Amino acid sequence: MRKGSLSVREALAASPGGTITVNGWVRTRRQSKALSFVELNDGSSFKNLQVVIEGGTLSPETDAQLTTGSCIQVTGGLVASPAAGQPVELRAKEMHIWGTAPAATYPLQKKGHSLEYLREIAHLRPRTNTFGAVFRVRNALAFAVHSFFQERNFLYIQAPVITASDAEGAGAMFGVTALDLMNLPRTPEGKIDYSQDFFGSPAYLTVSGQLEAEIMALAFSQVYTFAPTFRAEESNTARHASEFWMIEPEMAFYDLDDNRELAEDFIKYQIRYVMKHCADDLEFFDQRIEPGLIKALTHVLESPFEYVPYTEAVRRLEQSGERFQYPVHWGMDLQTEHERYLTEQLFKQPIVVTDYPKKIKAFYMRENEDGQTVRAMDVLVPRIGEIIGGSQREEREDVLRRRIQEMGMGLEPYWWYLELRKYGTAPHSGFGLGFERMLMFVTGMKNIRDVIGFPRTPGNAAF
Ligand code: 4AD
Ligand code: MG
Repeated sequence: MRKGSLSVREALAASPGGTITVNGWVRTRRQSKALSFVELNDGSSFKNLQVVIEGGTLSPETDAQLTTGSCIQVTGGLVASPAAGQPVELRAKEMHIWGTAPAATYPLQKKGHSLEYLREIAHLRPRTNTFGAVFRVRNALAFAVHSFFQERNFLYIQAPVITASDAEGAGAMFGVTALDLMNLPRTPEGKIDYSQDFFGSPAYLTVSGQLEAEIMALAFSQVYTFAPTFRAEESNTARHASEFWMIEPEMAFYDLDDNRELAEDFIKYQIRYVMKHCADDLEFFDQRIEPGLIKALTHVLESPFEYVPYTEAVRRLEQSGERFQYPVHWGMDLQTEHERYLTEQLFKQPIVVTDYPKKIKAFYMRENEDGQTVRAMDVLVPRIGEIIGGSQREEREDVLRRRIQEMGMGLEPYWWYLELRKYGTAPHSGFGLGFERMLMFVTGMKNIRDVIGFPRTPGNAAF
């Protein structure tokens, strides 16, 4: 069916002359005396193809059905366009309506709709300018992730989605069970008897593929995951989703400095890639969503990331004289307001905060000589705050064992993780980049719900 037809993107790039066939959805229809103009889009490009229809070309029935939102096939002559801003236009000879969209009820009328409203029609919002641009950038960014690591000979690996271990030790996991919730089997002590459950033990959706990535890094040296992860946090913010995608590289023989440099190269590579391959989409974001976006991204490319130990960052925040909702003191976890103040006001560029207090970080991070801090790193960027979390890992079995116990966690589920340290351990490091946060950063979109097709957040799993 599609054979012999061109996408809108191909048609816009084609030389005038000849007859072509194009399929797509009508964005707008405008009527002048003798002519009718249709803006046609099929998602292949930000720009529409203008279809010009002379009076008498369409049957009265087709003419009436050719409304905003309808899906059509047009065949006609591709000619040089007299209109500014478009090289070619299509002079319609034949038109077929695949699907009508009754004007009285079609939810996407010509006027601009709020992003909140569009979330309620997630089945139709991909047909808007904004979401067309978002999903094309999302596609390009995913490709950039793979090419960055493949160019560096990293192995793409897959961690399980269903797991028995809490990779972050934070307890924010969704349970996975096949038990009858109305009739739960109990142990003699009255607890739920998971030995009768599908996996014979409690199981969860993974919060991170890191622990499995460590297994693979200690065999293949450099690996990465790129997969959905799940968090049952009650954080109803513009930056948190219950299901989000994460990229987790893990590298043997990398210390924290190597890790930090890789993170910086990775972020810059993605920005460069999107600027090169999604120029029209970024232009739109710059004009309509986040004024100054392209200049800000160019600035990020041009400046080396600053490197700030946590203790220094806290001192700078205390000295700033700024009144924060959460007052700053050593030992606290930095809140988004602190992160943004550091990167937007104090440093005015992305920064890497390192060596956090061990009490606020995960059990697997390598303990420093001071016994108080760990070799953690968070990459903070303007408008978002934390975009990457990572660390050098604790490769010493005795120290790791003590850390798991100090955190009040059971050793048993981590027996294999400990054994990795017992047999051929190696210094190693890694990090996790939140894919949606990266998308927010490059597009200027302000809510994570608007950079993922079908967001899952507290109270919402529609579509
Ligand atoms: O800092 P986090 O929790 O680190 C880890 O999960 C490590 N296991 C990563 C590693 O070292 N391999 O999460 C990493 C990143 C955050 O910096 C943030 O960008 C994103 O994942 N993230 C979220 N994105 C959207 N919604 C949420 N609820 C997120 N939680 C974390
Ligand atoms: Mg983190």
